[in-house]
Amino acid sequence: MSNDHNTTSNWRPQTRLVRGGTQRSPFDETSEGMFLTSGYVYGSAEDAEAAFKGDVDRYIYSRYGNPTVDMFQERLAALEGAKHCVATSSGMAAVFAALASQIGAGNRIVAARALFGSCSYIVEDMLPRFGAESVFVDGTDLEQWEQALSQPTDCVFLETPSNPTLEIIDLRKVSEMAHAAGARVVVDNVFATPILQRPLELGADIVMYSATKHIDGQGRTLGGAILTNDDAFIDDCLTPFMRHTGPALSPFNAWVLLKGLETLDLRVERHCKNAAAIAALLDGDSRVDDVLYPGLKSHPQFELAKAQMSGGGTMVTFSVNGGKEGAFKFLNALKVADISNNLGDTKSLVTHPATTTHQRLTDEDRAHLGISAGMVRMSVGLEDVEDLKEDLDQALAAATS
Ligand SMILES: Cc1ncc(COP(=O)(O)O)c(C=O)c1O
Repeated sequence: MSNDHNTTSNWRPQTRLVRGGTQRSPFDETSEGMFLTSGYVYGSAEDAEAAFKGDVDRYIYSRYGNPTVDMFQERLAALEGAKHCVATSSGMAAVFAALASQIGAGNRIVAARALFGSCSYIVEDMLPRFGAESVFVDGTDLEQWEQALSQPTDCVFLETPSNPTLEIIDLRKVSEMAHAAGARVVVDNVFATPILQRPLELGADIVMYSATKHIDGQGRTLGGAILTNDDAFIDDCLTPFMRHTGPALSPFNAWVLLKGLETLDLRVERHCKNAAAIAALLDGDSRVDDVLYPGLKSHPQFELAKAQMSGGGTMVTFSVNGGKEGAFKFLNALKVADISNNLGDTKSLVTHPATTTHQRLTDEDRAHLGISAGMVRMSVGLEDVEDLKEDLDQALAAATS
């Protein structure tokens, strides 16, 4: 296998996305090889012994490493500008590994309250079972972060923009406070994508993705990734956790994601263009309220979003008049966009967070997070934006007539 790392480091992002991490086998294939193998063979018993002693650097078992998974990891690391990338079987496997590999009895984690439902389950329910203390703050309120981080803390976890209310958290300021408290900062960068936001450059220590979303971007596969420049976290926490608990990415899925990366920049650019047009259209529509899009001037953190993201994002959240009934009528009347809890797909997908992704929260918690009964979250796809506008218009007419 051959791979010229020195060339990669000089490449611009789009070239890294197409060519980063490529390792050609002796067959000289154009497209990356898919190595569907769980194990590897040794020429002799002595070779196997040397491999297990760590005397030679080679593949041993696909739970530890696989050439196709390595290509995906290197390509994403090259884009993110990170020293290490560890791929996982799903985004939740990435969140759990990033947190559980470093948090245990006696540790303290401070997290933003506005998290994806399964992420808050890990922080609120699972980590305390291991003996950790979990503290939640309103992610947009720097005073709450300051107070929570006024005592020694091991880890900070946040998502920006958040799901589904698209709140923006100040990565630079929170990272500074977290570091002063002794904490590592873990950022779920799923909504922003590695194209629009680089948390490691803004002070975060670890960034993670659900590669299921924009990185695949075509609704085909689950996957995840954890990226960092922190050698101690990789050596002492993540590598042993991954090797011994086994949430490895399959080589087949790694290949799909590797090909997804090649078009990520182009797709995210068009997603953002379409999303901005949809947000502008809805913003002036009296049949909806509270249109949330980080690229809209009316967004409460428009300036912060502009400073830390290079685009407004691919998601638009709004409330349909008439509460849950209005939102359901709207969803059921759509003819182009599909009802789905997934996001970041070429197809526009629309969800009702209160009854799906955030159903497990109490009414009080949903109200606290600003998730109303009429709220709808739209992942804006790559269809012709005029078809999407017409679809939204006719569905709003059906919902509010
Ligand atoms: C913000 C965010 N983080 C993490 C995840 C989990 O990713 P996955 O579904 O790939 O496990 C999701 C979506 O499901 C998400 O929206």
